[in-house]
This record gives sequence, structure tokens and C-alpha cells, in this order.
Amino acid sequence: MLRLLIRTSARTDLVKHCRLLSPMPVVQVSDRSLLHQESLPKLPVPPLKQTCARYLALLEPLISEEEMAHTCKLMDEFLQPGGVGERLQKSLERRARKTENWLSDWWMQSAYLDSRMPVAVYSSPGVVLPKMHFQDRQGQMRFAAKLIAGVLDFKKLIDSKTLPVEYLGGKPLCMDQYYQVLSSCRIPGPKRDSVVNYATGKTPSTHITVVHNFQFFVLDVYNSDGSPLTVDQIYVQLEKIWNTSLQTNKEPVGILTSNHRNTWGKAYNNLIKDKTNKESVRAIQKSIFTVSLDAPMPRVSDEMYHNKVAAQMLHGGGSRWNSGNRWFDKTLQFIVGEDGSCGLTYEHAPAEGPPIVFLVDHVVDYMKRTEMVRTPMIPLSMPLKLRFNITPEIKKDIEKAKQNMNIMVHDLDVRVLNFSQYGRKFPKSHKLSPDAFIQMALQLAYYRMYETCCPSNESASLRMFKLGRTEAIRSTTTESFQFTKAMDDPSKNNIEKAALLKNAIKVHREHTYKAIHGQAIDRHMLGLKMVAIEDLTSLPEIFMDTSFAVASHFNLYTSQVGSKTDCVMCFGPLVPDGYGVCYNPMDDHINFAVTAFNSCEETNATKLSKFLTDALLDMKNLLDQVTEDQ
Ligand code: COA
Repeated sequence: MLRLLIRTSARTDLVKHCRLLSPMPVVQVSDRSLLHQESLPKLPVPPLKQTCARYLALLEPLISEEEMAHTCKLMDEFLQPGGVGERLQKSLERRARKTENWLSDWWMQSAYLDSRMPVAVYSSPGVVLPKMHFQDRQGQMRFAAKLIAGVLDFKKLIDSKTLPVEYLGGKPLCMDQYYQVLSSCRIPGPKRDSVVNYATGKTPSTHITVVHNFQFFVLDVYNSDGSPLTVDQIYVQLEKIWNTSLQTNKEPVGILTSNHRNTWGKAYNNLIKDKTNKESVRAIQKSIFTVSLDAPMPRVSDEMYHNKVAAQMLHGGGSRWNSGNRWFDKTLQFIVGEDGSCGLTYEHAPAEGPPIVFLVDHVVDYMKRTEMVRTPMIPLSMPLKLRFNITPEIKKDIEKAKQNMNIMVHDLDVRVLNFSQYGRKFPKSHKLSPDAFIQMALQLAYYRMYETCCPSNESASLRMFKLGRTEAIRSTTTESFQFTKAMDDPSKNNIEKAALLKNAIKVHREHTYKAIHGQAIDRHMLGLKMVAIEDLTSLPEIFMDTSFAVASHFNLYTSQVGSKTDCVMCFGPLVPDGYGVCYNPMDDHINFAVTAFNSCEETNATKLSKFLTDALLDMKNLLDQVTEDQ
């Protein structure tokens, strides 16, 4: 029962169940949510020797014997009694005692806020929702209005702190990330960015930002009595926005947010020197979320449609299309195109994918309901258009950002693969974990394409712990490599191949279990390294070793983000010669999004997708044949 997202029916049961268990029915809802948070365990620091032994084991399929001998020597030195390893470990344990979570701040900084790469493509994931059946502007507006109402409905759960607690492997999860996604925004800084959150405080946000034809509007989404606007009210307001933003020659000021963080940091300071600009930027930052009403994209074949939409969610298609119709720093940004394409992009620093798709599931459920809500008769005022004074310097910054975005757009290859032959029911029917099965298919696809294996990272949740984010599951193991090599080896029979596959899956499950229980390698190694940076004058050699660099160069950067909705999340590769692979296993099919950079000659997202399809089919045939023969 490790599937992260709880089903709606299960949720209701869970809430009932929690009530039954509660010995004190007088506890307030918000207190209960606080009690839940407080009761979560702290992220442990794994034993030093355990991590070091596992580190050496993960290197085995990835490096040569000579490199291994050298790394083992460095590891012996690192682990000497009373040596540097023990000192760092003690220091880390001290930090763990003194903080709520020894990792979360470091992780936020090193994985997100310190990174100087653009958030678009390099960090922010996109989510592609199924194509909607509207074909015109009215349909687009009505859909957007319902979607906005759905998010406001979800916000009620956040505001009243009645969001049901999620469980993983029978353990309650930290819900903090849910409280970070609305009313928040990333702010660029000269060396490090920051995130602001306006959800609480004296004046919590009551507006959203709507962008159309590169023009930004403040849309108040609450009536004066505090009730959220109805779908009809929102629709009328969106119509007003549309009709006052028909000009298509506006400066795409939002595209500034897509640039390298240092460049954007400088441009940002320049932009907000002007008082009007500063107020407009603040209004966007403070808004609950953003909705981009996108202009039509160039028509493509049905086969290419999903790839195009995924790209639109990740970067907006370039400066000629919708990339200026975004504020990429905004944590949550829904995108609705005129042709029925829709989805979202989110800035990754405050949250992982699972809370985002849980929100999406809620919104999609809400949109299916046809509740009749009486619309108040009081007319609403015109949404405020945000003004920007564009100086020649700002214009130059916009031009630079446009150029950079167009380079990124041309460089990113995105393939959405709707694998329809089977879904997660099939591995389950063989008593195998669907997630581990898919990871092994990825390993096989990669091996067939490159005749070798590579460092692979699958995200695992650390939310069993207070303020937990993610850990890495190392999907490439000695056992996965044995399986991939055997699969096309004519000297091996099917029984041997199936046994190797099952063994590789078993090992992957063990690694998953360790990762979600805070006993994996990567975050512990990061912690030791961070302590070394803070406490020592030089980094221990184990972190300067080539093997360390090799092991951290994730050519396969993957994640399962499961949802009830038939959608798929997508993100860019982590390294220039790598792939980003995200998947949503449904019962009878699997949605994948594979990305690679066109500038790298060795990678090809279409080719990997084809190899992945074949791997999934061959693995099924293998298991079916072995079962038949038994
Ligand atoms: N036999 C039969 N069924 C099995 C099985 C087996 N041997 N092993 C697992 N299953 C079932 C599970 O019970 C579960 O059933 P359910 O759908 O009824 O709940 C289902 O198969 C799925 O399990 P599995 O495929 O093993 O995956 P998981 O749900 O345990 O997920 C991770 C694994 C790593 C994805 C999950 O633990 C996790 O950490 N997710 C978070 C990822 C994340 O944060 N990503 C960040 C993206 S930005």
C-alpha cells in the first residue's frame, strides 16, 4: 500500500477513521492538523558505515575496477576511527537534534534557490491534462472559470486546515507542502533566490493573476461577504479581461522570469526601480495563483499534439507564442489554451509533484460536478490591469530573455508516450511492484540504446518525516544490470531472465523502502558534504573523487507522479546528456513524458520512448511465457 495518493473515497473513510480514533472530540480542526504535524518523526541521520557501504555498492555497475579500488582506499581513510567521517557524522547528528529537519533548508537551497539555471525547463515541471472539448474562446473562458472555482474550493481545505492527512506505507505524511503552494512566489536574488508566501499574515491574498496577450490583470476572487466568486461571476470577469487585452503588440514582460537567475536578478532590480512596476510585480507575487489564457499554438498532427502541449506547459513555445504569457516565478500557474489544451506549470522550490497533482485531482473532480450556485446580483468592478513602464534598459532585458527562451525551446525535445498495451494491473497480477517494474523497463530501454547502464535517480518521498521532501532511489543496481544484460543474451533461457528481472525488482523495492524511511545514501552524503563545507577548510577527498562525480551525474532522472486524473507530469533532464522521465501508471495504461536536449547528439527522447515501449512489451511477453510454460 505504498501508493502515495489516497483515493477520494478512501479519504472520506480516513477522516471518519481519524475521528473514531480521536479520544478528544473537542479538538479543533486546526489544532488537529497542528497535532498531526507535531507528531511526525524527525528525519533520521543514517549510520555512517551503512551509508558508506551502500555508496560503494551503488558504484559497482557504474565505475571500473581501478576506480573502485581508488574509491575504496579513500573510503577507508574517510572512515578511520576518530577521523573526518566520524567528526562530520557527529556534527550532522548535532544539527539533527537542534533542528526540525536537518536537511530541509540545505535541500531547498542547494536543489533550488542556489541554482542559477532558468526555472523554466531546468527546474519547473509541467502537467499535461487531457484535451478538453472546447474549440473556441467561450469554451476556453468557461473552462478557465470552472478551473479557478475548483482551485478556490481546494483552498477552503487549506484555509480551514481540513485537508485529509495522506498516508504512505501505512504511515501519516507531512502535509506542510500543501500550505506552501498557494499565494507564494519565488523572488530572484543576485546569488540566491528566496520564496515569499502570502497565504497567512495580516492581509492574506484574495486575488489571482490572469494573463492574456502578455497583459497581467488582478482578479479579485472573493465577494465582499468573503464568499468565493461563482463560476458565472468569474466567467464575466474573464470576459472583461479578454476584451480589454486584445492588442497583441505588448512587451512580454513576463518572459523576464524565464532567464538565468543572475540575469533575471539584475533585470528584476532594474524593473522594480519604477514604483508602478514594483506594485505590479508585488500584485503578481502576492496573488493566490496565476491563470494564463494562451493564444492558439501552431497546429500539429494528432501524433505530435501531446508533445506540443507538454512543451507549452514547460516553456510556452517561445517568444512568438506563449512564453511571455507566464510569470515563471509564480508557484502555481494554470494554463488554458484556446484549442482545448490545458495544464499547469509550477515553480518547484516550495513543493513536489504529488501535492500538485492531488490538487489537480480535486479540481478535476470539482469541475465534473454541476452544482447550481446562485450568483449574487451585485455587479463586479473591472479587474485591475497591471501597468509596466518599459524603459529602454528593460526592453533590452526583455530582448535578452526572449533570445534565451528561444534557445531553450529549440533545445528541448519532449515526447509524451501513452503506453496503452497495459497498465499497473499487469505487474500487480504477477505480484510485482508496478513502480519497480517500470523502472526496470527504463533500465532495459537505456541498456539497449547504449549497451551500458548509467546513474539513475528515482524520486522517493521523505514526507513520513516532518518537513520531509525527497530522497533518491538508485535504480541502477548490480542486479538491474544483470537483468538488462541477460534479457537479449541468447545463452540465457526465459526462466533465468524472469528470475533476474524479479530479483532486480525485489532489490529496487528494498531500496525504495530504505529511501522513504530515511535510510538511503544521497541526502546523507549531501548532509556530510554540507557539514564539511561549513566546518572544514577543505572538502574530504571522498567528495572530490571522480566516482562521486560519476555517481551524481544522473543520465536518467525519473519520477513517478501518480494521479487519479489521466494526466502526465513532465520535466527537463538534470544533466546536458541525460533524460527526464516522469510517469503516471494508470490501471490499464501508463502515461510517460520523456525529455532530452537536442544539443546533445547522444540523447534522443523519441528513440528512448520507442525502446521503452519495446522493453515494456518484451518484459510482459517474458513473464507471460514463463507463466504459460509452468
Ligand atoms: N504485488 C501486488 N501489488 C503490489 C506489489 C506486489 N508485489 N507491490 C506493490 N503493489 C501495489 C501497491 O500495493 C500499490 O497498490 P494501490 O495502487 O492499491 O495502492 C500499487 O501496487 C503501487 O505500488 P508501487 O508501484 O510499488 O509504487 P508505490 O506506490 O509504492 O510508489 C514511489 C513508489 C517511490 C513512487 C513512492 O513511494 C514515492 O515516494 N512517491 C513520491 C514520488 C515523489 O515525491 N516524486 C517527486 C516528483 S516532483
